[in-house]
Amino acid sequence: MNTWSGLIDRYRSRLEISQTAEAVTLFEGNTPLLPAPRLGAEIVPGGKLFLKYEGLNPTGSFKDRGMTTAITQAYHEGSRSVICASTGNTAASAAAYAARAGMSCAVLVPDGKIALGKLAGALAYGAHVIAIQGTFDDGLRMVREAAERAPIALVNSVNPARLQGQKTAAWEVTEQLGEVPDWLCLPVGNAGNISAYWLGFTEAGEERPRLLGAQAAGAAPIVTGKVVEQPETKATAIRIGNPARWGQALEALDQSNGHILAVTDDEIFDAYHRLARLEGVFCEPSSATGVAGLIKSVTTGSVDPEGKIFVCVLTGHGLKDPDSAVEGAAPPISISPSVDELLSVLKL
Ligand code: F0G
Repeated sequence: MNTWSGLIDRYRSRLEISQTAEAVTLFEGNTPLLPAPRLGAEIVPGGKLFLKYEGLNPTGSFKDRGMTTAITQAYHEGSRSVICASTGNTAASAAAYAARAGMSCAVLVPDGKIALGKLAGALAYGAHVIAIQGTFDDGLRMVREAAERAPIALVNSVNPARLQGQKTAAWEVTEQLGEVPDWLCLPVGNAGNISAYWLGFTEAGEERPRLLGAQAAGAAPIVTGKVVEQPETKATAIRIGNPARWGQALEALDQSNGHILAVTDDEIFDAYHRLARLEGVFCEPSSATGVAGLIKSVTTGSVDPEGKIFVCVLTGHGLKDPDSAVEGAAPPISISPSVDELLSVLKL
């Protein structure tokens, strides 16, 4: 029998949410920590690489961890509608959990800059999808004010209940590995996830990993120390110029003796293809950013892989962004239904 029934059921006493609220859950969490020996041999020689495959959450991204707690808490406090700004994944997740709770949900997304699978999810779950002619950062400013002026709960990661769910990923990593990894590598956008992992590791004990955060070069405010007014990257999930949890991310990086760096879109896509082709793990481009950051850090000598355990968090599923997978790949070969023709095109 499957005994897993979601994060709240598993960890409730360690989560700062109402202890009596009825959980709104899609049985999120409990995602695999996959060994990645082939990719590991290439990128962290002498070390070990594991992938925390968060794309296997119910709506296809790590956002479900924070959404089960945020929606549970909002419903418990009497809210019947929620709102968020999103580059796509938060929108799909909020829409699904709101549907599960029977709440209404509005999501603000940057017009034309969200991957197809995320838009499809938000629409399918019945959210009110509003496309704004602006960036995620504009959207976040708008929903913060809207939630102050109207009776609607904000479920972006500025909501503390979000981090409560997301921090459980740190505990799962340690449980699955049997120890704390030396390095935890992940993409950084609005900086909720890096803050949540650090909170989780810190609450669990003395031993903590070093954090390696990676931002896309065209949207790297934490790396450069400057707000980016017009962030640009094909990794649209992290196309963010003014992260809400910027200060908290810097603190986590500092306390962990970690580091944060920028990687180009080409480096992101190189990591994205290597994950799929060497390990059979298909994540969305933004999710490969942590791996790209690790590759760059090892190549430039700022991280020595020898004898170290690395966990890269793959935040979202590859099917979220089918266009990125198809673009740039060789198109399928079209043939008639003839075996001779088939044998003539096979590459053996
Ligand atoms: N990876 C993916 C796939 C994401 O969707 C996000 C953020 C991140 C990484 C970065 O995480 O913001 O906590 O630093 N997506 C948000 C959204 C912004 O609206 O879905 P972060």
